[in-house]
Amino acid sequence: MAKRSQAMWGGRFTAGPADLMLQFSESVSFDRRLAPFDVAGSKAHSAMLAHVGLITAKERDAIHAGLDAILADITAGKFTWETKLEDVHMNIEQALTKRVPAAAKLHTARSRNDQIATDMRLFFKQACAVLGEKILGAEQALLALAAANRSVIIPGYTHLQRAQPVPMAHHLLAWLEMLERDRVRFGAVAAQANWCPLGAGAIAGTTLPIDREFTAKALGFVDAKGRPQVTQNSMDTVADRDLFIEFAAAAALFGVHLSRIAEDLILWSSAEFKFVELPDAFCTGSSLMPQKKNPDSCELLRGKSARLQGNLHTLLTLTKGLPLTYNRDLQEDKPPIFDSFDQAALCADVLAGTLAGITVNAGRCAAAVADPALLATDLADYLVQKGVAFRDAHHAVGAVVRLAETQQVGINALATADVQSVHPAFAADWTEVFDLSRALAKRAGTGMPGPAQINRQMARWRKRLT
Ligand code: ARG
Repeated sequence: MAKRSQAMWGGRFTAGPADLMLQFSESVSFDRRLAPFDVAGSKAHSAMLAHVGLITAKERDAIHAGLDAILADITAGKFTWETKLEDVHMNIEQALTKRVPAAAKLHTARSRNDQIATDMRLFFKQACAVLGEKILGAEQALLALAAANRSVIIPGYTHLQRAQPVPMAHHLLAWLEMLERDRVRFGAVAAQANWCPLGAGAIAGTTLPIDREFTAKALGFVDAKGRPQVTQNSMDTVADRDLFIEFAAAAALFGVHLSRIAEDLILWSSAEFKFVELPDAFCTGSSLMPQKKNPDSCELLRGKSARLQGNLHTLLTLTKGLPLTYNRDLQEDKPPIFDSFDQAALCADVLAGTLAGITVNAGRCAAAVADPALLATDLADYLVQKGVAFRDAHHAVGAVVRLAETQQVGINALATADVQSVHPAFAADWTEVFDLSRALAKRAGTGMPGPAQINRQMARWRKRLT
């Protein structure tokens, strides 16, 4: 006779598992966090069993009361998790069995395969909502930073070389675009999660007359019109881990964005740039060099992104080559998911906190953007407006830049006669190009960094983010 503790599946066994095997195969150490979803799933499932007459209303009520009490114990930290019971499902079911006789009927027409798929879909819906909120918080901090520094102009960079002047707000709003795509992406993952697996059983459904739509409705797996959404193939239902990969991919890409934002901030806070001062609360010092203030929150944001990518890779490798349908390998799908969620959530909060405490060094920004050569492209546009072909204008302005270098003066300090010797289309008004606010004001088209456009974008974001 198998040990009583393996009552869930021990009927055909003459001996219980080795201690080493128990240790090796347990998942309760990490899947216990699914308890609220597992309980919700079991309550909906038992409600459905009563609805179709497979259990009585009394049995359902006893099961519900027992599950509520168990969840209360779990929440209060009073529940004893047992490794030998493998996972969250069997721990809860076993505890229920001790409380109510009807518990023996709970697993009717259900398998841990459709049960874990359900728990995880409920988890993903919540996780995406939480991340959406947290990313929103970071976005709001970003918008506030942009609004507070509207008048600051910095060089925009390509190849990490000064390229063209842009309002710092334009750069910050570029980050906002990235984060908003992440938020939308997690919303899309939540929509994918919104299909109820219960009823798929282990692989081939059940012979019992269950009502899958009832369960789906009870768990909130419904479309915008409140119609139940149930998965459409029992084999795919228990084998599919696309959602895990989609969630991890969304987290990995969010991580890439965090890392790029962090890298910009690390550069901006260095002595070489000094565009910004990062908040003390999100920096640390050196144990050796007393003068150091290190941008640790940003470096960790950059570092964590490696971990988020690793988790995605783990899941891709885990599922590749698995025969349909469920295989125990799939138990390994949860640690990377929980880690991606936990880390992404922390990262979003840390980014928000870091952004909220940033002060901008307007003087350093103004100095960095003062080089008139940053408006060389505007000078080429000036020639174009005088009728010169762009390629010729580009070439002529290149020669003007070279001339300024030879004379060791700013490009705008050259004599008009000198620039006219480079190209006759230069007129007396050529230096007007170097008025920075005039240069930006001309960039009024959608998506450009002119002040009118920045105002419009800020208004759009204010509306979208509140
Ligand atoms: N703990 C298992 C997992 O995470 C639950 C499903 C177990 N199913 C099974 N047939 N052993 O995947």
